[in-house]
Amino acid sequence: MAKVFRKQIFCCTTEGEGKCATKGGVEVWQKFREEVKARGLTDIIVTRVGCTGQHATGPTVIIHPDGLWYQTVKPEDVPEIIEKHILGGQPVERLLNPEMRVKPE
Ligand code: FES
Repeated sequence: MAKVFRKQIFCCTTEGEGKCATKGGVEVWQKFREEVKARGLTDIIVTRVGCTGQHATGPTVIIHPDGLWYQTVKPEDVPEIIEKHILGGQPVERLLNPEMRVKPE
């Protein structure tokens, strides 16, 4: 039987000069995994992802299927994103990347 998730959290962990990993992207990914596990959110999947071209404002986090990009995410921002966005349905406006969005049809 297929596993069905409510949301997928993509965290950019790409290595390299100026890329998200050098700005804490791996720690952000790890913090999302810890928080999701600690809260028992079995309908949320956290995935590492490669470069999306937004590392100038990285670490980058993308929430699917909402089509929203977060920028300059720090591990300490993760609980707020989980509580407000993932659980509460309200994006954390101060961290949204205004240049990137997927608009669902
Ligand atoms: S390395 Fe993360 S967006 Fe490019």
